Amino acid sequence: MIGLSILLAISPFLWFFLGLLTGYYTEYKQGVPFADAHQKAVRTFVEGGNFGHSRFVRSTQWNVWSIQWKDDQHRLESIRLIGLVPEKGERYFEKPYLPKKTSLGTTVHRELSSEEKAAIQKIRSQSLPWIEMPAPTDSVEKVRVRIIAPVHADKSCLECHEVQVGAILGAFDYRFY
Ligand code: HEC
Repeated sequence: MIGLSILLAISPFLWFFLGLLTGYYTEYKQGVPFADAHQKAVRTFVEGGNFGHSRFVRSTQWNVWSIQWKDDQHRLESIRLIGLVPEKGERYFEKPYLPKKTSLGTTVHRELSSEEKAAIQKIRSQSLPWIEMPAPTDSVEKVRVRIIAPVHADKSCLECHEVQVGAILGAFDYRFY
């Protein structure tokens, strides 16, 4: 009981120091070109078990504070996962962050909307690096930029996914302020 109250009393300090530590090991970058930011996100997803946790892992972290898009800088609102592996079908994970790969089986998902399906189709057929979508109008926060960008299979993915190198296994749905 006493142990618990001590823990509760010091927990704000623990979080504070954890924050300092994260800040120390993480150099957040401003105005990263979108292509570079996406590449980093893919690496973080593929190499890290969990998007949030892997920020601690310096080599794979997504330490992007804002991106450069057209003539402006935009801060990240969220990144959502679109699953496109053949064995599971097309599915959209609603959570506003990339889920842990190990918990995909139990993570809430829905079918893709017709606009999302069309975007994926277009990325596939024209080998586009990404597609800009109309900014969502229903969000509370002012999301100004929405971009869907694909995640391609490399050789290491073929061990588990029955596709060819270069196939699109998923996509990230980015929203920026
Ligand atoms: C060791 C096996 C394994 C390897 C290697 C692997 N995956 Fe997966 N991947 C899985 C499994 C299993 C799932 C489905 C998880 C679930 O639904 O529970 C999955 C799911 C996914 C999903 C989400 C799709 C969905 O709807 O669930 C994406 C995207 C993905 N993998 C991309 C990749 C990429 C890109 C690579 C290579 C860089 C890769 N995977 C390598 C086993 C693997």
